[in-house]
Amino acid sequence: MQTSRRPLVAGNWKMNASLQLVEEMQQTLSAEPLENLDVLICPPFPYLSAFDNFAYKLGGQNLSENTNGAHTGEVSGEMLKELGCDFVIVGHSERRSDNSESDEMVARKVKRAMEAGLVPVFCFGEPLEVREGGNLNDFLALQLDAVINEVGISAFADMVLAYEPIWAIGTGKTASPEQAQEVHKFVREHLAKHSQDVAQGVRILYGGSVKAENAAELFAQPDVDGGLIGGASLSSADFLSICQAANP
Ligand code: PGA
Repeated sequence: MQTSRRPLVAGNWKMNASLQLVEEMQQTLSAEPLENLDVLICPPFPYLSAFDNFAYKLGGQNLSENTNGAHTGEVSGEMLKELGCDFVIVGHSERRSDNSESDEMVARKVKRAMEAGLVPVFCFGEPLEVREGGNLNDFLALQLDAVINEVGISAFADMVLAYEPIWAIGTGKTASPEQAQEVHKFVREHLAKHSQDVAQGVRILYGGSVKAENAAELFAQPDVDGGLIGGASLSSADFLSICQAANP
């Protein structure tokens, strides 16, 4: 982690939450001063308004690629903004697989999020067969290029990236700190072909089975600027420990 990039630890609750968890998380986090990093919670939509005077940031887990209108069941960026979100996760692998979100659709959602005044947390990452097949960098470059083509490189200055290898998500099999660093470095080099400044300034989170026990090693890598935390963000004590591991 480089001190010039402020760390960010984000909890992705996925489709897990309760009013009790909201209360516990607020209490646990407010008892501890976490001043040197950004802390973000992304609960399911209905729980956003249950956060009351939350000292940290809120985000959605998804948004519609459309503006407000006749799109039953969808949620717009403007709605998230009105409910107090500053961020929104875009392109999570579960949405790519469960909802057939293509690279192009993800790119349009990144654009929509920015138009609504939200910071997209743009997720990308490879399945195991791609890694084992040896064309990891080409695969990741396509995911990145879809977004670069849609919004332009300068927009990356107002985005957060999250590298989430699919084989590490929810499996307990985290990428090693070296594997994470190698990809994060590649991503920065890829962006640097367009803009050195943007490549150096953008925060790149690692996600995939981050726990209190392995967070510090991952966050110690020079190109890892924090984490996107699934399972371990459902325990306020574990999530706090992970935040502390990123609090320089
Ligand atoms: P995990 O999920 O921490 O449970 O592996 C991470 C994510 O999907 O964002």
